[in-house]
Amino acid sequence: MTGQHTRRNMKIKVLGSAAGGGFPQWNCNCRNCDGVRRGTVKATRRTQSSIAVSANGEDWLLVNASPDLLAQIAANPELQPARRVRDSGIAAALVIDAQIDHVTGLLMLRERDTPLPLYATDAVWQDLSSGFPVTKMLSHYCGVAHRRIALDGAPLAVAGLEGIRIDALPLSSKAPPYSPHRHAPERGDNIGLLFTNLHTGKRVFYAPGLGEVEDHVLAAMREADLLLVDGTMWTGDEMIRLGLSSKTAAEMGHLAQSGPNGMIEVLDSIGGRDGRDGRDVRKVLIHINNTNPILVEDSPERRVLIEHRIEVAHDGMTFEL
Ligand code: MLT
Ligand code: MN
Ligand code: ZN
Repeated sequence: MTGQHTRRNMKIKVLGSAAGGGFPQWNCNCRNCDGVRRGTVKATRRTQSSIAVSANGEDWLLVNASPDLLAQIAANPELQPARRVRDSGIAAALVIDAQIDHVTGLLMLRERDTPLPLYATDAVWQDLSSGFPVTKMLSHYCGVAHRRIALDGAPLAVAGLEGIRIDALPLSSKAPPYSPHRHAPERGDNIGLLFTNLHTGKRVFYAPGLGEVEDHVLAAMREADLLLVDGTMWTGDEMIRLGLSSKTAAEMGHLAQSGPNGMIEVLDSIGGRDGRDGRDVRKVLIHINNTNPILVEDSPERRVLIEHRIEVAHDGMTFEL
């Protein structure tokens, strides 16, 4: 691969591959959390949900700002080009919903010396100005430069990411429990993102919260060379059976992997040997809840994923395409 080729590649870094709570979760002693703490299960720790995307390897779009953001920056020196005495490679932030695991890290960016460009839909901006008023709070520190995700079909233009086209798609998941939209959904409460490298033509689809794969979402997934999609739970009632929650995955806006019409079936219908179009598509589950048995590398559930050629994201996982 020539140097020029590499420079033209889009870079995706998984900063955090776990769902809200992380893995292990601070107060959880389920088989997975206890096992990873004690070293008795074959699994690795994971921080909460975020990726970073770059065209040049120096300027990054932070997609979701996790409560673990500072540890993630420390673990990924690419995000710290150190061009000036106060400097970060994070050129802008985009949040795909207003969930706590995706927005709390915004507070950690308050020491910036310029307003933070923040991409959000109107529905998310409402929550971030009221129920969780982080935009108002930040106005007393670095300030926020609102970049509206209009969901009008026009791609987003992100300064520093020239060469990457970003399309946002409304999708069906859930607004956070604190939001008035939780039980009165609005278009734009949750989005997925399709990134296209305009130099190579390669595409990435990212949707860590995906409750239902509607036709327009499936169409976007079929265009992608890399899928980073909702890996929260293996079964819909996983947390209920463990006595940890009264909510199903569906009630939380997440499509379980196993079973009829689950994520595995959806992914099987795309690309690859069995998919309709025969393309080589990389399929990766992300935003994995700490109760999910796929976290355990020698579990029967992980073996099922391997049979279906589906990968499980881990922190630090990097893609170039
Ligand atoms: C979710 O996606 O449902 C969240 O991870 C929940 C949370 O952040 O607590
Ligand atoms: Mn989440
Ligand atoms: Zn747990």
